[in-house]
Amino acid sequence: MKKLWGGRFTKTAEEWVDEFGASISFDQELVLEDLEGSIAHVTMLGQCGIISNEDSELIKKGLLALQEKANNNELEYSVKLEDIHLNLESKLTDMIGPVGGKLHTGRSRNDQVATDMHLYLRKQTSTVIQLINEMQNALLTQAKAHVETIMPGYTHLQRAQPISFAHHLMAYFWMLERDKERFQESQKRINVSPLGAGALAGTTFPIDRELTAELLGFQGIYENSLDAVSDRDFILEFLSASSMLMMHLSRLGEEIILWSSQEFRFIELDDAFSTGSSIMPQKKNPDMAELIRGKTGRVYGNLMGLLTVLKGLPLAYNKDMQEDKEGMFDTVKTVTGSLKIFAGMIESMKVNTNQMETATKNDFSNATELADYLSGKGIPFRESHEIVGQLVLTCVKKQCYLADLSLDEFKEAHPLFEADIYEVLNPVTAVQRRNSAGGTGFEQIKLALQKAEAKMN
Ligand code: ARG
Repeated sequence: MKKLWGGRFTKTAEEWVDEFGASISFDQELVLEDLEGSIAHVTMLGQCGIISNEDSELIKKGLLALQEKANNNELEYSVKLEDIHLNLESKLTDMIGPVGGKLHTGRSRNDQVATDMHLYLRKQTSTVIQLINEMQNALLTQAKAHVETIMPGYTHLQRAQPISFAHHLMAYFWMLERDKERFQESQKRINVSPLGAGALAGTTFPIDRELTAELLGFQGIYENSLDAVSDRDFILEFLSASSMLMMHLSRLGEEIILWSSQEFRFIELDDAFSTGSSIMPQKKNPDMAELIRGKTGRVYGNLMGLLTVLKGLPLAYNKDMQEDKEGMFDTVKTVTGSLKIFAGMIESMKVNTNQMETATKNDFSNATELADYLSGKGIPFRESHEIVGQLVLTCVKKQCYLADLSLDEFKEAHPLFEADIYEVLNPVTAVQRRNSAGGTGFEQIKLALQKAEAKMN
């Protein structure tokens, strides 16, 4: 088959070489964006008098017909035509005749593909932002229901201080808020038009780049034609914001896996998000949380892959850049899928409040309360810490917890201990009293929930 660029060639490549170079197997994902870009371009060609209005209208009609076919999944592509751009151009000429060949006036596949990617990521980034919102809402709903549900807070995965379950969930809400901001911020740089940069140097035709930018809803145009066709920073930003988002999801996934284990039993995942074992009838596995933890790896890989592809490239377009697509598509699919799963998983999980509360009683996570108690009475904190450390040691030897010690034992450790320490040792009191800004105290959480809700509206 003769290539659309075949003029200066005397022989054709072998089929397997063509196949190796082709991108149609994956860039067909860009079909709608490619058509949208072409419609804007040909409208501009007509309006600027570069081609006649009749030709422009004819081509536009053809493109609209292709758009309809694409929407109905009726387009079939040929690997011989290399990529989505050449496939569509060839379909257009098949449909409307040689006048279709005028579409590519003043344009190159280099600015064309860059335009497609900008349009594609602009849309996908909005979807990601929307899905982050949905997951944040799921977290908020659970948090509101569990302000007074207390659980052990951990450092080093050792019980540290009791906290509210709502506080723990809300930590993820704020992580996601930062993720959302990163995606929103990146839209500024996605929403810029490379169209009209030509192959690399601009064009001799009197095109109107502002017009195509406006028709495509872009906020502005690239200032430099070389930069316009070589820039893939906006994809890197998407991959990097996605990597961080996935890292957050993976951390929450890990907690969900731990919490749903027999050892913790803090939560139970809905059957819809768990799977069984083919051999062990008792099993209910948190597969989805594990899978998202696992899929984080491929998103990091996609970021590293593209950074590496780009690092040695001279200006302007190089075929290496065709490698920018699969990782991007894969990341979009992974991130949107993971967010949807997570929203459902959080919303539907059952919280075992008794088990969480019991866990706060059978440990030493109230030891800080005791130290704070003495320091509240004027003892330097270091000294209080030492005294309480000794009391913990006494308990370990006696195989009991702090609240099991008698007042005499406390007084022996320090005369300033009074009968009110038993109330201080109560984990609920411990949580309630942590009312410093951003802390786990119930009043603080209620404030935080209000702030979070305001963000969501
Ligand atoms: N399929 C190509 C890509 O995705 C389109 C641009 C090709 N440009 C070129 N000069 N070969 O990068």
